[in-house]
Amino acid sequence: MAAIKKKRLKVFTFVLLLVSLTSFFLNYAHTTATYTWFPKQMVMHFSEHFKRFMKYPQRPCSCSQCISETGFAPWFDERFNHTMQPLLNRQNAFLENDTYTWWMKLQRERTPKRLNETFMDLFSIIPGDVDPLLQKGPLICRRCAVVGNSGNLKESHYGKDIDSHDFVLRMNRAPTAGFEVDVGRKTTHHLVYPESFRELAGNVSMILVPFKTMDLQWLISALTKGTINFTYVPVPRKIHVNREKILIYHPAFIKYVFDSWLQAHGRYPSTGILSVILSLHICDKVDLYGFGADSKGNWHHYWENNPSAGAFRKTGVHDGDFESNVTSTLASLNKIRIFKGR
Ligand SMILES: *[C@@H]1O[C@H](CO)[C@@H](O)[C@H](O)[C@H]1NC(C)=O
Ligand SMILES: *[C@@H]1O[C@H](CO)[C@@H](O)[C@H](O)[C@H]1NC(C)=O
Ligand SMILES: *[C@@H]1O[C@H](CO)[C@@H](O)[C@H](O)[C@H]1NC(C)=O
Ligand SMILES: *[C@@H]1O[C@H](CO)[C@@H](O)[C@H](O)[C@H]1NC(C)=O
Ligand SMILES: *[C@@H]1O[C@H](CO)[C@@H](O)[C@H](O)[C@H]1NC(C)=O
Ligand SMILES: *[C@@H]1O[C@H](CO)[C@@H](O)[C@H](O)[C@H]1NC(C)=O
Repeated sequence: MAAIKKKRLKVFTFVLLLVSLTSFFLNYAHTTATYTWFPKQMVMHFSEHFKRFMKYPQRPCSCSQCISETGFAPWFDERFNHTMQPLLNRQNAFLENDTYTWWMKLQRERTPKRLNETFMDLFSIIPGDVDPLLQKGPLICRRCAVVGNSGNLKESHYGKDIDSHDFVLRMNRAPTAGFEVDVGRKTTHHLVYPESFRELAGNVSMILVPFKTMDLQWLISALTKGTINFTYVPVPRKIHVNREKILIYHPAFIKYVFDSWLQAHGRYPSTGILSVILSLHICDKVDLYGFGADSKGNWHHYWENNPSAGAFRKTGVHDGDFESNVTSTLASLNKIRIFKGR
């Protein structure tokens, strides 16, 4: 009896292995087609895919590589935490004590300002749905362009490439009108804070990055009574963006970017690196445009003619060098691609 059982188990194991291998090959046949084959590479390539397959029997996306796949680069795996939720919604709208304390210190906000009530007020005005950006899956390959504001976009002719992405993320005051050939005309998401606000087309999602409670209060005010016109600089009293499309960057995610990705360099993360790390969580493939200096080492914006403008990098609030080391390292690990322009 025992012998028969053992034999059955062997057959069962064999069949199971055959089924997994077959489905594995079917799954990966398309990724291997363009490879030049040598036995050693083949084995390595195979075992890499096999590891991936064992880890994700159900791939997280349909691209040949998905950003969220771990197991290839310890540097990435140590930093990337897929359970972190990038956006604030009705269900996750509270901060742990340490996050709250850290966030309050960012812009030296002293007195606690009814944060819970502010969250509730906010979600009586904007949707606050649970992660509308995370609805991806094994059948989708979501390609994103993250477009920074560097002068290296000038005369780059990247416009068409940028527009070919599913999501196009832009930030702060970035205009497209008049610069379409170089920066494209499409925007799906635009990250701003009150002091960097610009009006957006009705079909663009504004992602507010709150660095203080007043930023949330400003948003409420700007969509309703218009009582706030000043934070540390004058801010628009009223805004006309489509409130159905407004999203809020989660303060806990800002802290995650700071702790995990910036290893506490600088005082807090720039909108640029916040956009990049957000894109790692909501996209399967990421292309960066308009990051870094131009070929002459200038850090101006593409819509400005003064090359010494936009020298935010040297303010000490953000650690531009560390941030660009993070993006270069991501590129060197093939997690993202960086288009350097001119
Ligand atoms: C990842 O984030 C979750 C919260 O979203 C946290 O509980 C967990 O400890 C984090 N994991 C690591 C390895 O930091
Ligand atoms: C969080 O902070 C509040 C007030 O500072 C304190 O009363 C509470 O015990 C803290 N909670 C935890 C879990 O540390
Ligand atoms: C805010 O709400 C959270 C849960 O949603 C709760 O843990 C926390 O104590 C509240 N804080 C204040 C100050 O009421
Ligand atoms: C958004 O609206 C503009 C016109 O205001 C249109 O040209 C553009 O194609 C729309 N974009 C998307 C992604 O639907
Ligand atoms: C803000 O509004 C107040 C009165 O409501 C006005 O006195 C002040 O000049 C305004 N500030 C700016 C920067 O517009
Ligand atoms: C990032 O910084 C580390 C430590 O300074 C350095 O070893 C590494 O080469 C840098 N990586 C890139 C891609 O610049």
